[in-house]
Amino acid sequence: MMKHESIETNAALLIVLTLAAISIGGLVEIVPLFYIEGTVEDVKNEDGKDAVRPYTPLEQLGRDIYTREGCYTCHSQMIRPFRDEALRYGHYSLAAESQYDHPFQWGSKRTGPDLARVGGKYSSAWHTKHLMAPRSVVPESIMPNYPWLTDKLDYTDVQGKMRALKAVGVPYSLSKIEFEANVEKFGEEVAKKLDINAAEVNLKAQAKLGNYDGDPENLTEMDALVAYLQILGTMIDFSKHDEAEFVKFR
Ligand code: HEC
Repeated sequence: MMKHESIETNAALLIVLTLAAISIGGLVEIVPLFYIEGTVEDVKNEDGKDAVRPYTPLEQLGRDIYTREGCYTCHSQMIRPFRDEALRYGHYSLAAESQYDHPFQWGSKRTGPDLARVGGKYSSAWHTKHLMAPRSVVPESIMPNYPWLTDKLDYTDVQGKMRALKAVGVPYSLSKIEFEANVEKFGEEVAKKLDINAAEVNLKAQAKLGNYDGDPENLTEMDALVAYLQILGTMIDFSKHDEAEFVKFR
């Protein structure tokens, strides 16, 4: 029998055996991926349209502010499939829910709570107050103040951003044909929001209608960030889906 000491004292043998161990582990993990249909769930609404859609222009700019401010350094956006996580945050995150995120915000750093399903949990007024001065609503909070979010939202490059995302596979539309494909996939109402040509108009309309920061006169960074926070984790209505639908993707 080979003694462990003889492996540890023979560099060449150690390298060969290490590589063998890693290869077996790799095969066991990677090979099954070639035999399953897909790893991203295909979640449909009752009308047969895709439940998960790309972000609207306003939400996308909010997402850019989220990454700019480094919110991900304290907040994850992935609910793991464990009982304690699901009890605290809601249904575990599906791959489908971040399929249009570039880059995704899953993370593992949780100085603050996971935000994957924070949408609809608080009012937009609460978010605005909380972001301006977290301790005004949660006295023991250690989250920083973000008072500069009342700055005017710069949306001059929104079409460029959407084009860039389109280049990596997010189905924003430029041509009539792409628009029609989105009507088929997401329904007309959503397809309109994904039209790059109408980005500025849509963005202003959503901010006005949503009145996220309580200041309807000014289009601010707060409007965009809160619009983004309010959509997180809300696209799929889990009460309308059976768990078995998702199990085959695990
Ligand atoms: C230094 C770490 C830190 C950073 C950076 C940070 N947060 Fe937080 N956040 C926290 C902590 C801690 C809490 C829990 C206490 C509270 O509610 O303020 C929290 C709570 C929250 C909540 C409420 C979550 C819930 O379910 O109750 C939201 C929403 C939130 N943060 C958004 C943000 C956004 C958006 C940013 C970036 C602009 C950000 N946070 C940056 C630490 C941080």
